Amino acid sequence: MKLEKLGRYEDIVRDVCGNATQIVQPKIPGSQQNVLMTDGVAGRIVFKFNNADLVMKNEAVSRLLQAADIPAPHVTAMVRDQYCFEVYPFIPGVTLYERVGAGMGHDQISAIFQELLGIQYRMSQIQAGAVLQMPCGTCAAASRATIVNSNDVVTAYVIAAMVRIMNLGKWANLGLYHYDLTPKNILISDQNKFAGLLDLDGVAVCEKHFALAAMAAKYEQLGGSVSNICDFYEALSHQSLNRSRIRAQVNLTNLGKKIMWHLAHKSKAR
Ligand SMILES: Nc1ncnc2c1ncn2[C@@H]1O[C@H](COP(=O)(O)OP(=O)(O)O)[C@@H](O)[C@H]1O
Ligand SMILES: [Mg+2]
Repeated sequence: MKLEKLGRYEDIVRDVCGNATQIVQPKIPGSQQNVLMTDGVAGRIVFKFNNADLVMKNEAVSRLLQAADIPAPHVTAMVRDQYCFEVYPFIPGVTLYERVGAGMGHDQISAIFQELLGIQYRMSQIQAGAVLQMPCGTCAAASRATIVNSNDVVTAYVIAAMVRIMNLGKWANLGLYHYDLTPKNILISDQNKFAGLLDLDGVAVCEKHFALAAMAAKYEQLGGSVSNICDFYEALSHQSLNRSRIRAQVNLTNLGKKIMWHLAHKSKAR
């Protein structure tokens, strides 16, 4: 995080929580590095500074997830001095990223992904018409807004156009999904059980195969197989999937990530 921006964010945290003494960044800071935490009277509070349209969408999504009993941040949207941010109570747990780093076994990872597929299915059943109408309600618009935060505008528009094409399909296959379930966005309890979703930027209206392919790509990187993801999801949703579409989109997602990584590193080197 740039120092002057960090200072500004810290001032805002102090302004909102008058008694904030220690303000820290999370141990695993996330891709945008725009999250700060502090201890308030009611416990640890998280602040995520973000694009205004994403903040509004995330607050709406948070309410829908709460109503469906899906563990995720309980977001309140706030604005101070033209800065928009989400405020929410810290969810106890550590990220799957840390657990995998500490040697979590394949069976446990597989059980977590099965549970996540159940959550994706429950999310897809939520009436999300109101989210679809919002400026960042679709995954193409949400990903354009998040990529602008870490890359240049042209890259963001190119990737968003690819995302839009990958999301074409039947109306019946559109639903609310988390399309960015990286291990850093999944919280795990002390008992190695799923404890919550993080990063509501990634929850938007998506095409089913796109959302499952994004998840399958992560599972594959952790040593799992794409066909297992399809088997689990077909069994729980009683719907058959277009497996070759998912396979092709996993390959495209991997390619897209590689391109973004190179572009981000090239612009940092300049
Ligand atoms: N409620 C929370 N409980 C625990 N850790 C959190 C919480 N919110 C955020 N974090 C930590 O902050 C990191 C970044 O938050 P995230 O919303 O994923 O931001 P980004 O969009 O930058 O990826 C997460 O990967 C996690 O380590
Ligand atoms: Mg994240």
